[in-house]
Amino acid sequence: METRSIIIGTGSAIPKKIIHNKDLEELVDTSDEWIRTRTGIVTRHVVEEGETNSRLAGEAAKNALEMAGLSPVDINLIIVATLTPDMPMPSVACLVQDAIGAKQAGAFDLAATCSGFLYGLAMADGYLRIHPDHHVLVIGSEVLSRRVNWKDRGTCILFGDGAGAAILTGAENGRGIVTSHLHADGSLWDLLAIRGLGTREEVTPAQLEAGLQFIEMNGREVFKHAVRALESVTMEALETAGWKGEDIDLFVPHQANMRIIEHLRQRLGLSEEKVFINIHKYGNTSAASIPIALDEANRSGILKPGAKVLMVAFGGGFTWGSVAMKW
Ligand code: ACO
Repeated sequence: METRSIIIGTGSAIPKKIIHNKDLEELVDTSDEWIRTRTGIVTRHVVEEGETNSRLAGEAAKNALEMAGLSPVDINLIIVATLTPDMPMPSVACLVQDAIGAKQAGAFDLAATCSGFLYGLAMADGYLRIHPDHHVLVIGSEVLSRRVNWKDRGTCILFGDGAGAAILTGAENGRGIVTSHLHADGSLWDLLAIRGLGTREEVTPAQLEAGLQFIEMNGREVFKHAVRALESVTMEALETAGWKGEDIDLFVPHQANMRIIEHLRQRLGLSEEKVFINIHKYGNTSAASIPIALDEANRSGILKPGAKVLMVAFGGGFTWGSVAMKW
């Protein structure tokens, strides 16, 4: 039987502080009703003083290790997908490696925005083909609240903070990753970007005054591209896996907008209980959204061994991708 990469443990970490739609009505010209109907979001969680990306990532990792029944020294590689690291150097992955005591592990961050966790799963899958007995910790972790302009109603209503983790290893039991597809289109980068704080220009007070450290998004354009790309990558995954829409036991899309998810659900002809949704609680947590969803689904017992799971994501870059697996 073919060796495939299986997930043997999941974990997540969500900051305690909650921001309700009503709270946002105090900050920008918006309403609870507009946010619910246009996005499906009701609350989002954000960090408080002292909570960091690497701490959330570390907590999610510990929860995943506990579920997998592994010790931190059993981990051989740590991949953290994030667009909001604690700092440019070192990587969040190195901070997590130290925090959890994964002394045998290599560690690096991966920048693929909201698709980052799926890119990470694909990298882990490739690595495990060479070292099937190793354990790879893939984390998606974000502190988007520090990169959101709380005066911009087009973005501040959407995002939240959190982390999710999964531990993978090789197995010959008919389960595991069946296929992955990764895509990008850098020509459209400026529809969704954080322009400042990079090395293209000196970081100046004027830049910060202009808000270049914040997420800027042309929501309407991103929405159109996201729907098209997610539909196409979903069909591509089904075709490669040899599955039909109705074969999917759980569809786990990136949680960016309820209307995008609903469009995909109808396109696939899936019943509502086959689509995992938690956007109402957390908003868009970028790279963390799929691993948080996976952990919630896993802990609630929805995911039975062998269940056909299809994950799809789209984000800034643009990047998009899919991972199909038998749980
Ligand atoms: N409250 C009230 N009104 C608002 C708000 C708000 N928070 N935001 C925008 N509006 C207004 C607009 O000004 C506009 O008014 P107008 O018609 O008078 O010009 C109207 O509502 C409609 O605006 P749209 O931008 O067309 O609203 P849309 O239905 O597209 O929803 C949204 C906006 C939610 C941002 C949507 O476009 C979206 O979800 N886009 C995709 C997001 C996504 O998938 N991102 C990718 C991942 S994120 C990452 O990679 C980090």
